[in-house]
Amino acid sequence: MKSYALKTFGCQMNKDDSERIAGLLAADGYLEVPELADADVIIFNTCCVRQTADDRAYGQLSALKQLKADRPELLIAIGGCLAQKDGEAILKTHPHVDVIFGTHNVAHLPALLAKAALSGAPACEVLEGTTEFAGDLPAERRHDWHAWLPITVGCDNFCSYCIVPQVRGREKSRTIDDLENAARALAAEGVEEITLLGQNVNSYGRDLFGKPAFTELLARISNVAGLKRIRFTTSHPKDLMAETIDLMAARDNLCPHIHLPLQAGSDRVLAMMRRRYTAAHYLGLARMIRERLPDVAITTDIMVGFPGETAEDFEQTLSVVEEVRFDLAYTFIYSPRPGTAAADYDDPVPKEEKSRWFSRLTEVQNQASLERHQELIGERFDVFVEGHSKKERNRLVGRTASNRLVHLDGPDEQIGRTVPVVFTEAFSWFLIGKGQQ
Ligand code: SAH
Ligand code: SF4
Ligand code: F3S
Repeated sequence: MKSYALKTFGCQMNKDDSERIAGLLAADGYLEVPELADADVIIFNTCCVRQTADDRAYGQLSALKQLKADRPELLIAIGGCLAQKDGEAILKTHPHVDVIFGTHNVAHLPALLAKAALSGAPACEVLEGTTEFAGDLPAERRHDWHAWLPITVGCDNFCSYCIVPQVRGREKSRTIDDLENAARALAAEGVEEITLLGQNVNSYGRDLFGKPAFTELLARISNVAGLKRIRFTTSHPKDLMAETIDLMAARDNLCPHIHLPLQAGSDRVLAMMRRRYTAAHYLGLARMIRERLPDVAITTDIMVGFPGETAEDFEQTLSVVEEVRFDLAYTFIYSPRPGTAAADYDDPVPKEEKSRWFSRLTEVQNQASLERHQELIGERFDVFVEGHSKKERNRLVGRTASNRLVHLDGPDEQIGRTVPVVFTEAFSWFLIGKGQQ
């Protein structure tokens, strides 16, 4: 039996694609092994959203050179967004690569591997667009109880800094019937939690119906018997609708968590980013969400150091952060991506200034998350236990419906179950809780 090891970089979309890759390879008779060094085939599913993502993937790819020299029959495949972006050029700098596949042709990976093995020459296939949904492929899921369900692929927003529309193509929605059937089939297999995926879930259906139909889709999925927790990501502030929030308030299995990237708090910077909303609009949304969904968590992505951003713009971002008090925020320093509009903008802000802004933002946000978590100490929440902590193997980790990360002590039998927990300690990125009888 042939073996493979798969390494996934980047966002949930890539995690889903990796489960499809695993499903395809399992169907082709491959066995998955955890260690790269033990595998007949090594696959990297890559990201290129920032320069650091490129560097990480290429760094780890370079580190495979020795393995390939020792075992020439080893096959190394690189797929995902970085492969879509750089294509065959990867062979110039990394000639030990055997297969390059893009984001639109995950299904062809087994054939490309077979071709490379047979010919002894690299096989490269990077397509311009999608003909089939990776979501239709069989998946080898990481957890029995959880499934990703991509509702759209691609993105039409072209935020000026973002490479995703180039490497994932135009936005394309699967039909509501297809998605409902997929959800039903997953529930029949015992899946309790489903995460609907799209770069901008709120615009779901625009290509099919001429107007977004996300709320309708969510209502249909929420009616599927057996689905206990339905999550979705990512929401876009320009498209998120009040009716979606109202539906979430009305349905128990729609989890009270909204990931709503702010990016910046200055209207000038938001306009340059082509985000098509204002800080005031964002604040209005956050207020509405907190009013209508009592235990909701609002999380976000924020960037500092956009070309032309000034100290005053940055202060406006801080002020939105202080006002919203996000439950959690992923913060980034702007990274120019060749081929995007912003890559050509003048960028006079010195690196050191950007680093200072980044540290300050992180500090303010960590304090806000900590305070929000501290307010929960003594409260009782249901926690779905997902597994062991990576750092402390005898500690369990789980999540609340609002997606808050919780550490707790308890027997392994609790994995895969919902446990009532009282919070005892708070940190910026997680809470510690005590399981109740
Ligand atoms: N579709 C989602 C996620 C896009 S990528 C959305 O619309 O938000 C995830 C995050 O990476 C973005 O929210 C943004 O904060 C960050 N990001 C994207 N491009 C970037 C760039 N060029 N430099 C730094 N951060 C970037
Ligand atoms: Fe990128 Fe903007 Fe699309 Fe998100 S909405 S993937 S940030 S272009
Ligand atoms: Fe995701 Fe990175 Fe691609 S964020 S869509 S894996 S560029």
